[in-house]
Amino acid sequence: MEGGPRALKEIVIASKNTGKIAEIAAALKHLPVKVLSLAEFGEIPEAVEDGATFLENALIKARYYAARTGKACLADDSGLEVDALQGAPGVYSARYAGENAIDADNNRKLLAALSHVQPAERTARFRCVLAFVDDQKPAITADGTCEGVILEELRGAGGFGYDPLFYIPDLDRTLAEIALAEKNAISHRGAALRNMAVRLQEYFR
Ligand code: IMP
Repeated sequence: MEGGPRALKEIVIASKNTGKIAEIAAALKHLPVKVLSLAEFGEIPEAVEDGATFLENALIKARYYAARTGKACLADDSGLEVDALQGAPGVYSARYAGENAIDADNNRKLLAALSHVQPAERTARFRCVLAFVDDQKPAITADGTCEGVILEELRGAGGFGYDPLFYIPDLDRTLAEIALAEKNAISHRGAALRNMAVRLQEYFR
């Protein structure tokens, strides 16, 4: 069938993190979309992430920034679920040790919370939920997980957040000891993005 080039649909990513935006753009590169950063829209007050689950927070962000930018929006929410802590820190992962906590504070608090927990009981997973909102249409969501074990001390200098404590037995490494490309291939965010790309392919067909 003849036809001119299809216009690209503009999608704003609910983030100003250039690394995250590059990872998302790469995952969606075969779709008829143009990925925009929230940084291109000037000062927008941050969404209030007061959901009880990653899904609720991803939907809150996607709906909020879609309304504020007038574009379709893709938002993510992610964090760490530790089985021995009944899923904590969960949606509080970024502020586990307090509102202004830095990674080192959160890691220290996690080690203290697990100080009496044996290695076999230190199972955990990172979870990422993505939500895509376009006009009044039903939201499209996707999730991904990455399974591991929380170590008793930090290992590795790469990554961010809880990466130095998050050990993957199959790799015999923490997420802070592997290259970014390798992390993207096995991470919760990578898995969620691949799931979302499949759903968006259907959506744009
Ligand atoms: P966000 O939803 O991507 O902002 O992630 C929330 C918090 O979860 C981060 O501040 C980290 O503490 C934690 N987190 C999410 N993804 C990762 C990861 O890939 N490695 C380490 N920590 C993560």
